[in-house]
Amino acid sequence: MNKIIIGCDHGGLELKNEIIKHLNSKNIETCDVGTYTAESCNYPDYAKALCRKIQSGEFERGILVCGTGIGMSIAANKHNGIRAACCSDTFSARMTRMHNDANVLCLGGRVVGLGLALDMVDLFVETEFEGGRHSQRVAMLAEIEKQN
Ligand code: RB5
Repeated sequence: MNKIIIGCDHGGLELKNEIIKHLNSKNIETCDVGTYTAESCNYPDYAKALCRKIQSGEFERGILVCGTGIGMSIAANKHNGIRAACCSDTFSARMTRMHNDANVLCLGGRVVGLGLALDMVDLFVETEFEGGRHSQRVAMLAEIEKQN
């Protein structure tokens, strides 16, 4: 993957900026949908801006950062086709790619330290979906969306 979309609210601003630097240093291009200042703002706005660009096919995967990662993950998962995982450990960050084909990683800027966050980002970017029996389960998620 050579490009990724990223967004945050004020609670995730510092961590988002570090993640951008980290990804760019690995030659992964980042599209930053904001927020760009520490002023208080509403995380659903940024989740929506990011998810729209994944739904359109412009980006395959994205990263959302807020204070806990939870608000962003709730907001992102309201969008059809989005499978957002709020992670605080590397095992989950890897498994959510392998088993859930997660296309959005949500992190809590007030929860995880920088080293752990960057390890999770690397796993999210580098790990491929395992497919097989998991494909059927992911297809069931899309079915649920259709029924709602
Ligand atoms: C903002 O204070 C905070 O509520 C937000 O960043 C996030 O943690 C919500 O889930």
